[in-house]
Amino acid sequence: MATLFGDLNPPHRILMGPGPVGIDPRVLRAMSMPMLGQFDPVFTTYMNETMELYRQVFQTKNKWTFLVDGSARAGAEMLLVSMISPGDKVLVPVFGRFGHLLAEIARRARAEVVEITREWGTVFTTAELTAAIEQHRPKILAIVHGDTSTTMAQPLDGIGEVCRKHGVLIYADATATLGGMKVDVDGWKLDAVSAGLQKCLSGPPGSAPITVNERVADLVKRRKHVEVGIKPAGFIEGDGPIIQSNYFDLAMLMDYWGDSRLNHHTEATTMLYGAREAARVVLGEGLDACFARHRQASAALTAGLTAMGLQLFGDQAHKMPNVTGVVIPPGVDPDGVRNMMLNDFSIEIGTSFGPLHGKIWRIGTMGYVCRKENVLACLDALEACLRKFGFKPNAGAGVDAALAAYK
Ligand SMILES: Cc1ncc(COP(=O)(O)O)c(C=O)c1O
Repeated sequence: MATLFGDLNPPHRILMGPGPVGIDPRVLRAMSMPMLGQFDPVFTTYMNETMELYRQVFQTKNKWTFLVDGSARAGAEMLLVSMISPGDKVLVPVFGRFGHLLAEIARRARAEVVEITREWGTVFTTAELTAAIEQHRPKILAIVHGDTSTTMAQPLDGIGEVCRKHGVLIYADATATLGGMKVDVDGWKLDAVSAGLQKCLSGPPGSAPITVNERVADLVKRRKHVEVGIKPAGFIEGDGPIIQSNYFDLAMLMDYWGDSRLNHHTEATTMLYGAREAARVVLGEGLDACFARHRQASAALTAGLTAMGLQLFGDQAHKMPNVTGVVIPPGVDPDGVRNMMLNDFSIEIGTSFGPLHGKIWRIGTMGYVCRKENVLACLDALEACLRKFGFKPNAGAGVDAALAAYK
């Protein structure tokens, strides 16, 4: 007898952690559309449309704007592995877990990594970043835009300009921010940016939108090598060092997404349908309206938490609008509260990593989940759970303050 287990029947959760979040029903619907062959003209048209949609989401004219199949770090890894040649100096400002991740990926790509660090809950000033660029003269600055581990958003406006002046390439990880706050790729002169679907874009994890400009395209074209089995007659290899990963070879991906349609992997059809629809959802609402919705939810949630007598985590001037850190009151069992939120209210809020573990909860208001009724339900549930675990919030104050903020 085969072991079959039961039909899938997951509970309906309200996902208010730092991602993934609930998927927009339009995205789910798109993902149930029929499979197409990867060179079917209908499908290649969808690929081209997806490129154009993400140019608008990234606010860029970059030709090379497409999807990497994999979770958000696949986008980060593809860009870093393709941009870094062994021995290149890469500067990584670290202000949370995901700065450490970029440093680790760069190290695995055999870069000479220079890290500068800030206490979690803070960000770097432009002057600090400028000084580090001038001191270390890296080939690449790899920086996180919004770090969900601390809830902070690093201002990038102006940094791209400094990089350009010094001949440095800038890569930014916008996984947590794309669709939730401004990511102005061309305006901020960012050379390479990656993201993921599962946060403010209201899609599932598994597809990483990326964009690169011609500075990066030129760099990787010099490292271009094509698999022997599909090498076109007369193809001349780039004279630079081969990119160490086949799956994450930007030059080969450009050939696959570009006019030559030179086969690489088999594009994840269903993920492309979802990513395409996710972009249409955001652009249909309007980028500015979408950012305003995230800001409004953040204002209501933070007003509610504060009115309950809780303390917000980190430098509030630089908090991302889509995720909020709240200090766990002394004596309260962090996991007890989270488990009760999940089991009794079906609301998921996030725990924390590293130095913040056990010290803060992270409450996400991202994408499809970023709605008034969810903010109010979360505050209501949190009040009941806190009371159960020995903290006495100001009764009713959280929901009242959030309602007032929404007015
Ligand atoms: C800023 C940032 N970068 C990268 C990641 C990694 O994303 P994934 O788990 O999809 O690989 C995350 C996930 O939370 C993130 O917040």
